[in-house]
Amino acid sequence: MSMDKKIEQLAKEREKVMQGGGAQRIAAHKEKGKLTARERIELLLDENSFVEIDTFVKHRAVDFGMDRRETPGEGVVVGYGTVDGRLIYVSSQDFTVLGGSLGEMHAKKICKVMDLAMQNGVPFVAINESSGARIQEGVDALAGYGDIFYRNTQASGYIPQISVIMGSCAGGAVYSPALTDFIFMTEGTSQMFITGPQVIKAVTGEEVTLEQLGGAAVHNQVSGVAHFYANSEEATLAQVRRLLSFLPDNNLDEVEWVETGDDQARQNDELLSIVPTDPNRPYDVHEVITSIVDNGDFMEVHASFAQNIVVGFARMNGRAVGIVANQPRVLAGSLDIDASDKASRFIRFCDAFNIPLVTLIDVPGYMPGLNQEYGGIIRHGAKMLYAYSEATVPKISLIMRKAYGGAFLAMCSKALGADTVYAWPTAEIAVMGPEGAANIIFRREIAAAEDPAKMRLEKIQEYRDKFANPYVAAGRGMVDDVIDPRDTRRMIINALEANATKRVHRLPKKHGNMPV
Ligand code: HXC
Repeated sequence: MSMDKKIEQLAKEREKVMQGGGAQRIAAHKEKGKLTARERIELLLDENSFVEIDTFVKHRAVDFGMDRRETPGEGVVVGYGTVDGRLIYVSSQDFTVLGGSLGEMHAKKICKVMDLAMQNGVPFVAINESSGARIQEGVDALAGYGDIFYRNTQASGYIPQISVIMGSCAGGAVYSPALTDFIFMTEGTSQMFITGPQVIKAVTGEEVTLEQLGGAAVHNQVSGVAHFYANSEEATLAQVRRLLSFLPDNNLDEVEWVETGDDQARQNDELLSIVPTDPNRPYDVHEVITSIVDNGDFMEVHASFAQNIVVGFARMNGRAVGIVANQPRVLAGSLDIDASDKASRFIRFCDAFNIPLVTLIDVPGYMPGLNQEYGGIIRHGAKMLYAYSEATVPKISLIMRKAYGGAFLAMCSKALGADTVYAWPTAEIAVMGPEGAANIIFRREIAAAEDPAKMRLEKIQEYRDKFANPYVAAGRGMVDDVIDPRDTRRMIINALEANATKRVHRLPKKHGNMPV
C-alpha cells in the first residue's frame, strides 16, 4: 500500500474514533444539554493545546457479546494540554460509548496519563461521566478501578487532582473523584451515587430520582462530597481553570506570583462598620475577606456546605493564600461536625501544596448538642486540631471577636503553631463566654444572693472585664499584637512576608494517624 493510502487509512481510523458512540447517541447526549467528551476538553484547555494519546486503544473482552462490540476510543479520551500556558494531564469519559463504563483498557488509558502527570509533576484533571464498572468485563473492570484508586492515593499531596462530574457517575466512578482534592458538578445534568435508583428501590424500598439521589445540590449542600458547582458545563469548566490559577504544579512548587495591582498597605476602613463590636450581633465574614484580600478576589471552596465556616483561595500581595474564617451569620460561627470536616480537609490541601493559611477567628465554641455528640464531634472536631498542628506552611491568625474554648485552640491558635497571631481590640479570648462562665463558677454566690438576677449580671460583668479582651492573651505572648482593624491587610501581608521562608522539621515517622 502506498504512503498516501496508508495516510488515508489513518485518517479514516482516527475519524471512526472521533465519532465515539455514533451520531445517534451523540445527538441524544446533546439533547440532554451535555457536551461531548472532546468538547469538554477543548473548553477546559487553552485553544488548540490538546494532544491526544492512546486514541486507538481497544478492549479485549469477549464475554457477553463484547467480541462483536466496538468501543471507539474505549470510552475515554486522554492526553495533555495547557491551562493559561501551564501543562496539565486530562482524561474525559465518553458516555456515548457503553455509557462511559470502565473496563480493563479504559482504565489503562486513565492510568497512563495519571502516571505521566505524576512523573512530570503537573495537575491531573479527570472529567467523569461513567456508569461505573463495565459489567461485561467482571473482575478486569474492578481491577481497573483498583489501579486508578491506587494512583489517586499515590498522587495525593504530590500533584493537585481535580474531578469534574458531568452526567451520571455511578459505582466505581464516584470513588476515584472522592480520592481527589476537588470535585466540580454541573447543576441539573450531573449526579453521583454508589448505587442507582433501581437498586435502592430493591434494597430499601425508597423511591428517588437521580437528582434527589446525587445531584449537584445534594452533594454541594448536604453530603459535602462536591466542592463547586455551576449552572452549565461551560461555566463549570471555567471554574476549574480559575481554581488551577491558585494552585502550584506539585508539592515542591510554589503558586505563581501574580501582579494584582492592589496596594499592600491599603487601609480597611470598612471593617469598622462591617464587624459590630457587640459580640452577639452577626455579620457576613465574606465582607471581611473581600476587604482584606487582593482586589476582593476570593474563590470560595464548599460555598454551600457547612456555611458556619468559610474556606477558599485568594491572593495577598500577589501570593496565593488559603483563607479559613468562622461565619457568625450561620450557627453563630460555631464549629460542628461538617465545619470541622470541611476546614480540616482544606487546611491539609493548603499545607500539602505550600499555600499559606490565613485564619480569621470569631468563634463561640464547638456546637453543643446530642446530635453532635452522637455524630462524633469529638473525633471530627479533633481533625481541626490535627490539621492545623500538622501544617508547616506559614500560619497567620487574626482574632476579631470571640475566641472561646477548644474552638479557639482549633482555629489555629499560637499553641497549634500559628506563626503570627493578631487580635483586634474587640477580641474576647476565654474558656467560654462570660454568661456561661459566670453561671458555673459563681453558681453558689448567685443562688445565695438577695437578688440573684442582679448578682448574675454583676458576675458576668466581672468575668467579662477580666477575660473578655485580648490583653490577657497578649500578656502571655499568645497574641503577638493587638492591631487597629483598619491595618488588617497591611499587617497580615507583613506577617506572610516575614514567614515566607519558613522551614519546619517534624519527627521522623511513616505518617500520622489523623482522626477520621
Ligand atoms: C456496561 C453499561 C453500564 C455498565 C450502562 N451501560 N451501565 N455498560 N457496564 N455498568 C450501557 C447501557 O447498556 C447502554 O448501552 C449505555 O451504557 C447507556 O446506558 P443507559 O442506561 O441507556 O443510560 P441512562 O438511561 O442515561 O442511564 C445512565 C445510568 C444507568 C443511570 C448510569 O446506565 C445505570 O444505572 N447504569 C448502571 C450503574 C451501576 O450500577 N454501576 C455500578 C457498576 S458496579 P447502549 O449500548 O444502549 O448504548 C461498580 C463497582 C465498582 O462500578 C466498585 C469499585 C469500588
